[in-house]
Amino acid sequence: MSWNAAERRGGPPVSRRAVIAGLGAAAVAPSPPPAGPAGRGPAELAADEAHWRAVAARFQVSPDFVNLENGYYGVMPEPVRLAHQRNADRLNLLNSHLLRTAYKEQADQVRRRIAGILGVAAEEIALTRGGTEALQLLIAGYARLRPDDVIMYSDLDYHSMQYAMNWLRGRRGVRVERLVIPEPATRQAVLDAYARAFAAQPRLRLLLLSHLNNRTGLVVPVREIVAMARERGADVIVDSAHSWGHLDFTMADLNADFAGFSLHKWMGAPLGAGFLYIRRERLADIEPAFADETYPHDDIRSRVHSGTMDVAPFLTVDAALDFHQSLGAAAKQARLRFLRDRWVHQVLDLPNVQILTPEDPAMYGTITAFRLAGHTTEAANVAITDLLMERHRIFTVRRGGPVRGDCVRVTPALFTSRDDVDLLARALRDLAGGGSG
Ligand SMILES: Cc1ncc(COP(=O)(O)O)c(C=O)c1O
Repeated sequence: MSWNAAERRGGPPVSRRAVIAGLGAAAVAPSPPPAGPAGRGPAELAADEAHWRAVAARFQVSPDFVNLENGYYGVMPEPVRLAHQRNADRLNLLNSHLLRTAYKEQADQVRRRIAGILGVAAEEIALTRGGTEALQLLIAGYARLRPDDVIMYSDLDYHSMQYAMNWLRGRRGVRVERLVIPEPATRQAVLDAYARAFAAQPRLRLLLLSHLNNRTGLVVPVREIVAMARERGADVIVDSAHSWGHLDFTMADLNADFAGFSLHKWMGAPLGAGFLYIRRERLADIEPAFADETYPHDDIRSRVHSGTMDVAPFLTVDAALDFHQSLGAAAKQARLRFLRDRWVHQVLDLPNVQILTPEDPAMYGTITAFRLAGHTTEAANVAITDLLMERHRIFTVRRGGPVRGDCVRVTPALFTSRDDVDLLARALRDLAGGGSG
């Protein structure tokens, strides 16, 4: 069975006869998402509630609460959810015939599409089941470590990635250093912290660096930090799980050699989709996964071996990227930042509310954590999330890791309205004792 564009988007196969009759495309074409008013830049569009209401109408979300906890994984937009269902059915229907025939070319097509948007070659991309798998394979497979080399990560990196870095201690005999991201985390303070840490560790060989961390939402200047590390002969594995599809960038903006990505967060793909990137010239520095021989070792696909797996998420990546591109990466980034700014700027004057991303748009997306002064423990922050839910039906989550204590993470999404974040701002003023709400 051949695989046509309609199927790639999760539609039923379109027979040649139907295409010839001119019916195929009409039968399966997803309804187009609302186009942004022509000639309006992302900043102007970001504040256009009517536009974003139309976008929100393309998501099914729970009416039971205001979801400001979209930092775990993303709700799929409806065209993607429906495509995923069709792809799961197709996988079940065709069974291994699909995996043994058409899927191989389909997976390669997905790699080509991702590569095109990220501005790299398809040969530099290998599909994984998510960001964790991608980054674990890069960390575990990094081949240049010698005993007593230093590896480093920060206190705000994702927990599983910290564990994978710690695992290298016993595996490769390296020393593990943990850098503290300063509070307040200004651009200069972050750059200084890395410069100091690098100077103190002449044996530094490998750095894990979160582009946009999942605890406070801070975005760090990846390009500058990668350049500083490179100057000292150290490699950087960039954790881009939370940044791609959220922030508008390509690989050239990061200029890194190794990176792990998730597609089920901000690209809106089904759970179970991600990929890793290895710059072509650096492939030999990451070992094949468990000495896998399925692909020749000069093929990046030898760096991932997930076994028999659910490929419906990969078959649906095309539909997710269609949706992403129909909105536009720049417009998504601007709207997501707008929602963060909208609630943050209503509480900035409160002396007992600490906002854990600085007022520098280059250093945040839509995720931003807050802390009420003195509320630094896990219990205190869980109590705040409970209160927000009980009193206001607002769903948020406590996060730990920042140097000055725990916090509450707030993560709007593309379907979040201005009213939703205004509700949070009022609730926070109420909680912080600064006004009624
Ligand atoms: C910063 C960061 N890195 C990595 C991951 C892991 O990604 P995935 O859920 O795709 O395995 C996450 C997940 O939340 C994350 O926030």
